[in-house]
Amino acid sequence: MSERWVIEASRVEVSELISKCLQARDMAYCPYSRFPVGAAVLAADGTIITGCNVENASYGLTVCAERTAIQRAVVEGHRQFTAIAVTCDIEDRFVGPCGACRQVLMEFGTDWIVYLTKPDGSYKETSLSELLPLAFSPAHLKKDK
Ligand code: THU
Repeated sequence: MSERWVIEASRVEVSELISKCLQARDMAYCPYSRFPVGAAVLAADGTIITGCNVENASYGLTVCAERTAIQRAVVEGHRQFTAIAVTCDIEDRFVGPCGACRQVLMEFGTDWIVYLTKPDGSYKETSLSELLPLAFSPAHLKKDK
């Protein structure tokens, strides 16, 4: 497999990831905040799993789009991920995942690429380690410290 082919493939994967997170945002159940969020995670085998925020009349039970995607992915057998794209309706700046979702992503690796995506499909690439520096992770629970 030539290096060029791999680069092209990953470019295609990124644009698919971006469009799937935008589609997922359209499925958001957010009657209380009216703030739809979409997420799409890229598993190590190339599968894309999406999520949207799912709110509840008991507001604290709301689940963010990122966590919905992770939970679906785990149920479907995925535990290794390379990237996540997230989007909301804010057009004039790039918006990152909430702190709780950053921690949930950290459970499944420190090396995530994170694409902060605007409604027009433009995105800013960052990383989980940049978004959650000095994080607590599963590695800290290992006995042989
Ligand atoms: N929300 C997410 O889905 N992801 C985040 O990272 C931040 C917030 C949702 C939760 C709630 O339904 C709405 O956005 C407003 O907070």
